[in-house]
Amino acid sequence: MRFQAPKGVSEYLPPRSWGFEQVKAHLLRQARLAGYQPIELPVFEDTELFARGVGETTDVVTKEMYTFTDRGGRSITLRPEGTAGVMRAVIEYGLDRGQLPVKLFYTGPFFRAERPQAGRYRQFYQAGVEAIGVDDPALDVEVIAIAFAGFRSLGLKRFTLNITSLGDVESRAKHRVELMKFINGLSLDDETRARAEKNPLRLFDDKREKLRDAMSDAPLLFDYLTDTARQNFDEVQSLLTELSIPFEVDKRMVRGLDYYTGTTFEFSHHDLGAQSGIGGGGRYDGLMAELGGQSLSGIGFGLGIDRVMLACEAEGISLGVDESAVDIFLIPITEASRAVSVSLASSLRNLGIVVDLSYGDRGLKGAMKSADKRGARHVLVIGDDEIKEAAGNIKDMKSGESRRVRLDALEISKLLQG
Ligand code: HAM
Repeated sequence: MRFQAPKGVSEYLPPRSWGFEQVKAHLLRQARLAGYQPIELPVFEDTELFARGVGETTDVVTKEMYTFTDRGGRSITLRPEGTAGVMRAVIEYGLDRGQLPVKLFYTGPFFRAERPQAGRYRQFYQAGVEAIGVDDPALDVEVIAIAFAGFRSLGLKRFTLNITSLGDVESRAKHRVELMKFINGLSLDDETRARAEKNPLRLFDDKREKLRDAMSDAPLLFDYLTDTARQNFDEVQSLLTELSIPFEVDKRMVRGLDYYTGTTFEFSHHDLGAQSGIGGGGRYDGLMAELGGQSLSGIGFGLGIDRVMLACEAEGISLGVDESAVDIFLIPITEASRAVSVSLASSLRNLGIVVDLSYGDRGLKGAMKSADKRGARHVLVIGDDEIKEAAGNIKDMKSGESRRVRLDALEISKLLQG
């Protein structure tokens, strides 16, 4: 029997996996530069955390969670997103009792039982940040700027940023009354009506064409923002302009998760077809209280590493090429030269040189082929003569030139690095 990976998962094999590492590093580096700290959390949590945190009317919770009962009879869910788990940890360990905002970054796999297609997977990877405890438009802009700088540092150009404000409690209450009046005038099935009762905003991202048409005249939350919410959003816009981050305001934006309030944003890439969202996030005023913590605001984002990879590939950005190569490939051709090569490899690695070795009994020709396949920049063949003379010839695989060196790790490393 031959096994295959489960349907719809994303996997990265060498050399492409180097690109994956590079994308992750670029995105997270920007969070580090802004003073965020790493947090590492479990990939499964109590189901109730997501039902409450993400929202019972969302597709994520109603249709896409990987939920199972564990051996202790508890309902467990593989995390579909990162924010609820971070908030659980912040509350559980009292991180919000220290310096605010609490600034955290994370990366890892997330799970949603969606219909797989290009750029949409059942296990996918996100790089995320959360800044919790301070409600300040400058912090909204910091979070957006981290994502923007991450994309730019990879060399991405063909993406856009859409932003909106989903308002504060007061704006939403005002809007809800008007929106419910409008929705009550529509002819809806019972399930949709029940959904609307729980969260009327959900009807804006319903996929059915008829409902979409019907909702095109619905009152928009954006038009019901209180003065404070509007002022906050104006400041976000002027700070983004100050930072030369281009954006568009999209008054109809709805996100797939229920916790958003205030500044909300999405990055889309032009070459990715239907699954164009390369990252999104926003502020979540009520989440912490909803999960049993104090009433503090927060803001964050999740960037889809898989989609960012696809975007880089679509823009012709070559990723991870440098990392995949080895600096030097050692080829021992006699029994005695094996021990010398193993120990030389170890000393060179201690000096930070990437070394690979020809293993097994391949013969010189086979070993040279392996060196080539591994993308080795240099090759050093070690036989009895080399041991006797304590010296050998390092061949530069690109130019074909050879240089004589002593079999000394320091000397070789200087030659390779110089
Ligand atoms: P989200 O918009 O659901 O937000 O996901 C963020 C990003 O993850 C998306 O823009 C997309 O790039 C990627 N993504 C989502 N689902 C899939 C999938 N099935 N396959 C591939 N990529 C996918 C969140 O998850 C929020 N927790 C973000 C956040 C953090 N908001 C505040 N803090």
